[in-house]
Amino acid sequence: MSRKLRKVVFPVAGLGTRFLPATKAVAKEMLPVVDRPLIQYAVDEAVDAGADTLIFVTNRYKHSIADYFDKAYELEAKLEQKGKDELLAQVQGTLPSHVRAVFVTQPEALGLGHAVLCAKPVVGDEPFGVILPDDLISTGGQPSALRQMAELALAQNAGVIAVEEVPNDQTDKYGIVATEGEVGERAARIHHMVEKPKPSEAPTNLGVVGRYVLPGSIFEVLEKTTPGAGGEIQLTDAIETLLKQESMLAYRFAGRRFDCGNKLGLVRATLHLAAKDPQLASAIRDFVAHEPEFAA
Ligand code: UTP
Repeated sequence: MSRKLRKVVFPVAGLGTRFLPATKAVAKEMLPVVDRPLIQYAVDEAVDAGADTLIFVTNRYKHSIADYFDKAYELEAKLEQKGKDELLAQVQGTLPSHVRAVFVTQPEALGLGHAVLCAKPVVGDEPFGVILPDDLISTGGQPSALRQMAELALAQNAGVIAVEEVPNDQTDKYGIVATEGEVGERAARIHHMVEKPKPSEAPTNLGVVGRYVLPGSIFEVLEKTTPGAGGEIQLTDAIETLLKQESMLAYRFAGRRFDCGNKLGLVRATLHLAAKDPQLASAIRDFVAHEPEFAA
């Protein structure tokens, strides 16, 4: 991309059925990993990548996300009165002061591609990032996955999509890319992309994970994209069309991804981050080592 990344879209209008009954009343993105909701990890990543405008694509059941980033007057006053400065800083720090949050609605869950298209009036025609908050990527203090991608996009003047190798029998859960021509150690040019192919029809096992840096020209393509896999308007289908006019790179990010859109992934992410938390690390290791349920 020829311009620095400033805007990041968070499509959070899905139904979250894999976490029912919790998601009957709690947005999936508000589920906590240790002490912070999934959406906070995603926002921190966008800010680390240099974004100053965050666009949340929500629906009428997800008011808690807007509430979370809003000022909490009563709570802040109480914490201040009691001298709980550290907690106060955490409550006030959900969104840095130089960053603005914009909320747009996806009236109906017509698919990820459609959710991204809903952000068009705010993004305009500049390059932008997309983060799916249920893919949590831990980089252990190193540059975040989206920052790595934004830097590559700028250096190569290309769109960038995060990928990782997925088990051969699970290609039908991912967008799958075929590449040619390596670009540095971690990237390659995409020449073909397909959403959720059966293992027998998948061109590779390189699966797309929830991070994208896209050119503004994707919106024109999305406007013409018809429902694909699962009857949904797929972002993958639009990118496949865009490949005819734009250069796109598949990028094997440095970091560890946890699919927190399912129960196992959320539990794994919690254990992973708890083991990195100085206050929890030794207790959590002790628990895993001695809990009878974990004995071989
Ligand atoms: P998922 O495939 O994980 O769907 O969407 P979901 O509804 O969130 O969860 P399950 O499968 O029912 O448990 C991937 C991402 O795309 C967003 C979701 O919010 C999630 O971040 N999405 C999906 C939308 O914003 N709108 C849609 O119409 C579909």
